[in-house]
Amino acid sequence: MELSSEQNQYKKVLISYLEKNQNVFLNEWNETIKINEIDPYKEKIKENGYGMYALVIQTFKGALSDYMLTKLAHQVAKERLEANINIGDFLYNINLGRNIIIRNIFGANIPIAHLQEFINAINIHFDTFSYHAVTKYTNLTNDLIEEKKSYISENHKDKLAVLGQISSSFVHEFRNPLTAIMGFNKLLKRENPNLKYLDIIDYELNQLNFRITQFLHTSKSDVNEEQREEISVLKLIEEIQELTYANIVDASVNVEIDIHPNFFITASKDGLKQVFLNLFINSIDALKDKEHPRILRIDSIIEENERIIRISNNGPVIASELIETIFEPFVTTKELGTGIGLYVCKKIIESNDGYMNCESNENATTFSLHFPYDQ
Ligand SMILES: Nc1ncnc2c1ncn2[C@@H]1O[C@H](COP(=O)(O)OP(=O)(O)OP(=O)(O)O)[C@@H](O)[C@H]1O
Ligand SMILES: [Mg+2]
Repeated sequence: MELSSEQNQYKKVLISYLEKNQNVFLNEWNETIKINEIDPYKEKIKENGYGMYALVIQTFKGALSDYMLTKLAHQVAKERLEANINIGDFLYNINLGRNIIIRNIFGANIPIAHLQEFINAINIHFDTFSYHAVTKYTNLTNDLIEEKKSYISENHKDKLAVLGQISSSFVHEFRNPLTAIMGFNKLLKRENPNLKYLDIIDYELNQLNFRITQFLHTSKSDVNEEQREEISVLKLIEEIQELTYANIVDASVNVEIDIHPNFFITASKDGLKQVFLNLFINSIDALKDKEHPRILRIDSIIEENERIIRISNNGPVIASELIETIFEPFVTTKELGTGIGLYVCKKIIESNDGYMNCESNENATTFSLHFPYDQ
């Protein structure tokens, strides 16, 4: 819109007023802005204020390009991020500058009708600056978060790769002699059925085998080689109940099994056995801290697209922060825990195309295993 010659006249008045009072305006701004003492750019804040003021004058001279305003906004946003300063303080200082200018230009004695248009122009100038600065600040912050996330995930992958390497060599070194000892122990038992302690040796060897197999499952390639088969979940759970019998009796836990004999799933049997063992042992451990009755309940649900097995106990509630990381390796609250039990469970279920969930509230803590199912 063409400016009237009168408006042009007042514009010149405004420009010279702004130029003449530059120090008054900027001193007031300097005295009232929020500056953090540890801000490495604190001197730059004042310099930027002067720059911004000069740009306001340029606006009225018609010499301000979008490029210059955006450039200053981006530069300031970058410095604010590097100074790790609160974005609220930054916006506060910008708005303070706007208020000081608007409040003081009434002193230029420009009639209100003409002044209104200049005030609008100043508002647009500051809004555009804030928009570019905050957008840049947000984009830079997001980039930084992405960078950190990818660093954490790379670091995590490295740790898992090391864990995988350790477990493979660990498993090879220990598994073969262990299998041989277990075989000889069986032979010994067959030839001398009444020999003392053989059952205890067998139980301890099974425990050791369980631990070693646990590590085997942390190295992915081995898991994928396992064969899938039709498994009667009820039979498998009963097998696990026998294997953990000593722990169940020791902790006085009541086991409730509510699974239909015809409930089958297709999965790797050894893998699933490992999962149930882990979940049983975790539940029994958790129930030890609880008053009676201590209930470990296993049931199943058939949904349209999946078959679900739930292992629940009425033990203590798991804190929501722990639930978020509970399936990560090395997460443990136990003095002698390794924190790989649930990580291994999740990996095994995922390698069988399923997924795991954990929910915990006052009534129960439930780990559910979901398997896809096509009818
Ligand atoms: N049923 C449960 N009730 C309450 N807390 C549980 C339950 N299952 C797991 N947790 C919590 O999750 C943590 C991680 O479990 P996870 O099985 O991965 O490792 P762990 O049992 O500590 O060690 P391990 O490697 O010997 O299994 C446990 O230390 C425990 O705090
Ligand atoms: Mg465990």
